[in-house]
Amino acid sequence: MDTNKRPDTMARIKTKEQADEFIAQQVELVKAQVGDKKVLLALSGGVDSSVVAALLIKAIGKQLVCVHVNHGLMRKGESEEVIKVFGDELDANLIYIDATDRFLDKLAGVSNPEEKRKIIGNEFIVVFDEEARKLENISFLAQGTIYPDILESDGVKAHHNVGGLPEDMQFELVEPIKLLYKDEVRVVGRALGLPSSMVDRQPFPGPGLGVRCLGAITRDRLNALREADAILREEFDICGLAGKVWQYFVAVPDMKSVGVKNDKRYEGWPAIIRAVNTTDAMTATIEEIPYDVLHKITARITNEVEGINRVLLDLTPKPIGTIEWE
Ligand code: XMP
Repeated sequence: MDTNKRPDTMARIKTKEQADEFIAQQVELVKAQVGDKKVLLALSGGVDSSVVAALLIKAIGKQLVCVHVNHGLMRKGESEEVIKVFGDELDANLIYIDATDRFLDKLAGVSNPEEKRKIIGNEFIVVFDEEARKLENISFLAQGTIYPDILESDGVKAHHNVGGLPEDMQFELVEPIKLLYKDEVRVVGRALGLPSSMVDRQPFPGPGLGVRCLGAITRDRLNALREADAILREEFDICGLAGKVWQYFVAVPDMKSVGVKNDKRYEGWPAIIRAVNTTDAMTATIEEIPYDVLHKITARITNEVEGINRVLLDLTPKPIGTIEWE
């Protein structure tokens, strides 16, 4: 039997009861596969790795070792939430690595988007590998592979490419959600008690804010981007757009314009708002954000975020614009 093929008889998981049944089955399968051995998981805080972590904690508790690498390109509060939910509430065996300086030092002065992506991907593997080597008796590697990953590629998550670990560090894989579609993963996550902020999270690229802090990343501009993005998310929560819009974020280009602040010349970066709707991310349309919401966001970002002096709205559908700016 091809274990990477979803059986035709497998019903789409929609209800809590179906999710509970799936969880119970997987708990037994994982226990049988793993026995009393240890399992390692790269926990990014995204939907898929979070659901795998919660499922494995239920199945094998402290035999699961979660490693969360903060590459310094997370959105505001995301690493903190991983620590709160998994470290505090679920009492996971969690190793938190703040690798911000390592990533940002490697990225200093690099403006080419593909090169930036490569640096972030490679450094992630190096950091994760270093941590894995410090641990003893790890026999398995858990991955948040989901069914579209199998359909679209070779089944390895490209953006957090732990499948790219060195030859001598190959583990047997534990992939409990590999036959699920994204909507089912969310239902299972909810049934496992994960918060909506994790389960209903928007797609977020593996290289994180690195693809939205355009050109060569600097700490001050990255910080401005993170704060402006947090304000956008807060205001979308308040006005109800958060539950309606597929993906929304801020990008900050590497250019300044002249402005006036406190009666003085104030050179700053523009914050670009992008809010799109799509079903498959291949094409996307623009959300028509009400002007009162835009005015409020503009006032907050320009008043509260150091370094930003203008707010722009991206009206470009995909195609011709990609969703991310890069
Ligand atoms: P583009 O910019 O190509 O983005 O229109 C399409 C969707 O893919 C997301 N994206 C990524 N997702 N790893 C991911 O998991 C990545 O490296 C990555 N890059 C882009 C993007 O946010 C959008 O939803």
